[in-house]
Amino acid sequence: MLSSCSSFTMSRSARIPRAASRAASLPSAGRPLRQRLNVANRDTSSLTSISFDVTSEISPELAAIPPHSQAVDVGLLPNKPSLSRQNFDPKSEEALCSQVSVEFTNSYFYTALAAYFARDSVGLMGFAKKYRAESEEERKHALEVLDYVNMRGGTVQLSALMAPPSDLAENDQLGDALAGAEFALALERLTNEKLLALHKVAEECGDPNLTDFVEGMLEEQAEALYEAGTFVTRVRRAGLGLGVTAIDQELLNEG
Ligand SMILES: [Fe+2]
Repeated sequence: MLSSCSSFTMSRSARIPRAASRAASLPSAGRPLRQRLNVANRDTSSLTSISFDVTSEISPELAAIPPHSQAVDVGLLPNKPSLSRQNFDPKSEEALCSQVSVEFTNSYFYTALAAYFARDSVGLMGFAKKYRAESEEERKHALEVLDYVNMRGGTVQLSALMAPPSDLAENDQLGDALAGAEFALALERLTNEKLLALHKVAEECGDPNLTDFVEGMLEEQAEALYEAGTFVTRVRRAGLGLGVTAIDQELLNEG
């Protein structure tokens, strides 16, 4: 075991000089590009209709690909450079990671609402079911953003989540069903603001791929806002008591 560790240390230290020159580390370094790409050495003057000369234009892209790590380092070095990252600004990456936290926090808060309404002292199981489903939906959003960061060659940095309150504020006039519905609406409005801010970052960074991704989220968020607003109106109209029980039963019977 000891000898294995010693040999690993030697291999790592022996690898360090290769970072000095990326070009020197490429097996094809020094050879003409045409030879590296196996392109026949032919006269291209007769091919004037070709507007995209890949053999000359691809050089910067080849140079941008990080070098291959030695086999001994695979899986051991943190922050290995992405091979696919292109036009992905660190500001966009940071804003997306913040959005992951927003979505996970939403999920956490909806979970707290679901737990509240499922108490034996509350007994609104339809409301509990609705908020449990919302929690899962928000978690799905968080994972979608997380997957997007990885797809763009970024690094996901997760942060600590704020603990939600375990009780809805006591308010005899409002009632807990309406207090929960209004809280959910406020959460969806805040999420929409966060998405708009994310879209602004994407525009400022000149990242059409990200603006397209965020626009898809904004479209879904508009639907969520409409549903949350309509739900508040319905609970307000129902009032306290039997009206809330009727809505609760309806939520319980929904597919
Ligand atoms: Fe969401």
